[in-house]
Amino acid sequence: MPATVIVGTQWGDEGKGRFTDLVASEVSMVVRYQGGHNAGHRIVVDGESFALQLVPSGVLYPHVTPVIGNGVVVDPRVLITEMDMLESRGVSTSGLRVSGNAHLILPYHQELDALHERHLGKNKLGTTKRGIGPAYADRAMRVGIRVQDLLDEKIFRQKLGAALEHTNKVLTRVFNRLSIDADEVADEYLGTCAPRLIPHITDAIGLVHDELDAGGRILMEGAQATFLDLDHGTYPFVTSSNPVAGGACTGAGIGPRDIDRVIGIAKAYVTRVGAGPFPTELFDDVGDHLVDVGHEYGTNTGRRRRPGWLDAVMLRYAVRVNSLSELAIAKLDVLDQLEVIRVCVAYEADGEHFDQLPYHQSVLHRVTPVYEELPGWGVDISEVTERSQLPPEADAYLRFVEQQVGVHIGMVGVGPDRQQVLRFTG
Ligand code: GDP
Ligand code: IMO
Ligand code: MG
Repeated sequence: MPATVIVGTQWGDEGKGRFTDLVASEVSMVVRYQGGHNAGHRIVVDGESFALQLVPSGVLYPHVTPVIGNGVVVDPRVLITEMDMLESRGVSTSGLRVSGNAHLILPYHQELDALHERHLGKNKLGTTKRGIGPAYADRAMRVGIRVQDLLDEKIFRQKLGAALEHTNKVLTRVFNRLSIDADEVADEYLGTCAPRLIPHITDAIGLVHDELDAGGRILMEGAQATFLDLDHGTYPFVTSSNPVAGGACTGAGIGPRDIDRVIGIAKAYVTRVGAGPFPTELFDDVGDHLVDVGHEYGTNTGRRRRPGWLDAVMLRYAVRVNSLSELAIAKLDVLDQLEVIRVCVAYEADGEHFDQLPYHQSVLHRVTPVYEELPGWGVDISEVTERSQLPPEADAYLRFVEQQVGVHIGMVGVGPDRQQVLRFTG
């Protein structure tokens, strides 16, 4: 059986973790295919909340094998802390598998991330400072160290020594920092981390393909989102990997023909953390209301997320670059108290009208959104369990989005809990 991909359609934090958890009930394996612990995916089950960074959001089901794919960058210290957190709360991580081809985040990646941001000053990207960019940069420079290198002390020390020879020059001569001691890093990674992780390191390509061959259904869990994609997002205000559905192919080692369902996750409005263009951004009371009611603060970093209206131009682009087969809308309940709800249906700039994303990004920086206004519903929908129970205005809002974007909405979140979801048939 083929694979399903879950992909963010905005700037992250759309609710990918909660929808992955939902769909995971129907699959045998969940694979994270890119990103690292810049991700924060929250799942709420019967009021109990789990914030995951590296472990795939299928981990809560005993029947699911959670896999960290080759496209992920892994800080082993963070992974071990996360596994300990899950174990202490009664969630087994013994089945977790980590691709030997995934790259490691090392302490100097994190330091370089912070230094680059400081160097950029007011032009900083607002990264999560987790070392994601520098780790992917080392991978592209072919000086990265992979998870499988933890299996061989000699190779690990050799590669670390070579990488630090260059990196220490950058740290000391460019940034005027202290150099990093290779033995200290090696002792921590080989002495403390490797014994914990070695039982989980695996040939993830073999694992995934054996599962597909055996008729198992696989769910590929994206982190970040379409507009944070290194190729397709609002560069340079992006992350350093490919969250788009195509990234699932390279980041997990499957071909496009193995994917038959791509679920795009969108919030009923938009948020963004970090810097970069945001055409529908709100700086008023409505924005504050969305942040307050939607608890729009980073799952891990605690940063306030920038709020804005839903943007159908963005969603049309996400449909294209991910070949979305359906949308899932999260947080419809957050709009409950709004009298009027706006949806951006096009942009205008320099006398030009844009139904699709302008390809030149400096245009995106100065577009004016064209809004359609829809009436709010003014009632609490968090207890609604069937589409027929939705207030007509809420149903009309969803139909309007479908018509604007051209893709069917298959699931709608009306609260954070696993149960608070409506499933629509096509
Ligand atoms: P992700 O990074 O895409 O997995 O999203 P995050 O977990 O970072 O952020 C989404 C937040 O919204 C989390 O705190 C979720 O618990 C919460 N959430 C998800 N779906 C809904 C929903 O339908 N309604 C409400 N009120 N909260 C939701
Ligand atoms: P999930 O998976 C929201 C943003 C950062 C910054 C930019 C680059 O929870 O949706 P990075 O540390 O990746 O180099 O930062 O990307 N960013 C996210 N924003 N949700 C995320 O993950 C994000 N991961 C990175 O805020 O703007
Ligand atoms: Mg998140």
